[in-house]
Amino acid sequence: MSQQNWNASEYKKHASFVPTMANDVVGLLAPKEGEVILDIGCGDGELTQKIQEKGCSVIGVDSSASMIETVKNRGIEAYVIDGHNIPYQNKFDAVFSNAALHWLTQPEKAIRGAYLALKENGRFVAEFGGKGNIATLLKAMQEVFEENADFGQFHMPWYFPSVKEYQELLEQAGFYVKYIELIPRPTPLKSGVEKWLEIFADGITNHLSQEQKTIFLGSVKDKLLSNLFTEQSGWVADYVRLRFEATKA
Ligand code: BEZ
Repeated sequence: MSQQNWNASEYKKHASFVPTMANDVVGLLAPKEGEVILDIGCGDGELTQKIQEKGCSVIGVDSSASMIETVKNRGIEAYVIDGHNIPYQNKFDAVFSNAALHWLTQPEKAIRGAYLALKENGRFVAEFGGKGNIATLLKAMQEVFEENADFGQFHMPWYFPSVKEYQELLEQAGFYVKYIELIPRPTPLKSGVEKWLEIFADGITNHLSQEQKTIFLGSVKDKLLSNLFTEQSGWVADYVRLRFEATKA
């Protein structure tokens, strides 16, 4: 979910791998003509459009106004709505989400919203960062905070649950979990790790001065060079996906 002030054109330029690597979760959703589908944390709407092109009626929601503007320009119904506050009731055949639920740090609220939004027997299909996601990146960021007392306390802006934890939350909300799996998925960062940090780690660094941010970026990059960079593959982040399908019982 776009919990920060995303810029749609920056995202398109440097984070286009996010929708590109989502074929499997769209396959799991298997959208059928005539279905009504909600896309939570739709970003710039690339996947929302793919789903719409299958003949579905789709609504995209995202907390970034810039992203929603881009989605509307694709001819898709879309609203600026935080995924914690989904307002719909018994409306959708499926609720879909890619690379967004880890921004929702109150998962019970997000799951409850998805549950209420679904019609009976509707399905919730999603993929997001699970336990162990970006562990190497996170360790480096935490270490740099520890080494620079003037940065203050490190604040973790993401939620990366285990299979057991998320399955329990889904079941507590009333879902039947048909499938859930943790999938390591090394992810090439074509624009480099500094760009990734600039775009995605804003929630960690937005209180820092420009000078502190420069130190942060350089130090994190130095720490990661031997773990995440090779001449052959460039920068590759240690992504781990949690993918699931759950139905409203
Ligand atoms: C992810 O897709 O796993 C992710 C993206 C940005 C920040 C953290 C995680």
